[in-house]
Amino acid sequence: MPDNEVTVTMKARSQNEAFARIAAAAFVSAADPVLSDVTDIKTAVSEAVTNAIIHGYASDPARDVRMTMRMDGGDIYIEVSDDGAGIEDVALARQPLYTSRPELERSGMGFTVMEAFMDSVEVESSPGGGTRVIMRKRLSG
Ligand SMILES: Nc1ncnc2c1ncn2[C@@H]1O[C@H](COP(=O)(O)OP(=O)(O)OP(=O)(O)O)[C@@H](O)[C@H]1O
Ligand SMILES: [Mg+2]
Repeated sequence: MPDNEVTVTMKARSQNEAFARIAAAAFVSAADPVLSDVTDIKTAVSEAVTNAIIHGYASDPARDVRMTMRMDGGDIYIEVSDDGAGIEDVALARQPLYTSRPELERSGMGFTVMEAFMDSVEVESSPGGGTRVIMRKRLSG
């Protein structure tokens, strides 16, 4: 697949989690990926976009979540960003089972899932300064 890049901007609505999954699958389809890579990428995207909506923006549908997808050689990079609340302690937030919203019945496994399904996950965030999650995966085959 030739190198390519697409950016999608979506409102912070839960239905756009589904849109983001489909957009990521559509983007990567040009690389003729194995099915497991597609499902891994969709799962990681779901977690990152849901976090931006729920935690970044407290589900305020006026706010924008951005997703940039990039193919570079055989690697796919997906960056999900928001200009929302930000994270005070990223290392703590990334720990399995840590959630700041137990009352929403979150399980605190989103970052753990992203790490499990992608080859690398970087998080840049600051309180009030929004959050940027950059994920990379080497496509099989
Ligand atoms: N985009 C974001 N903006 C602000 N805070 C975030 C963002 N993403 C994650 N966080 C913080 O990191 C914590 C851990 O995120 P993680 O996705 O691992 O768990 P969760 O969203 O709480 O639960 P789950 O994903 O299992 O439903 C969140 O509870 C939240 O405090
Ligand atoms: Mg989460």
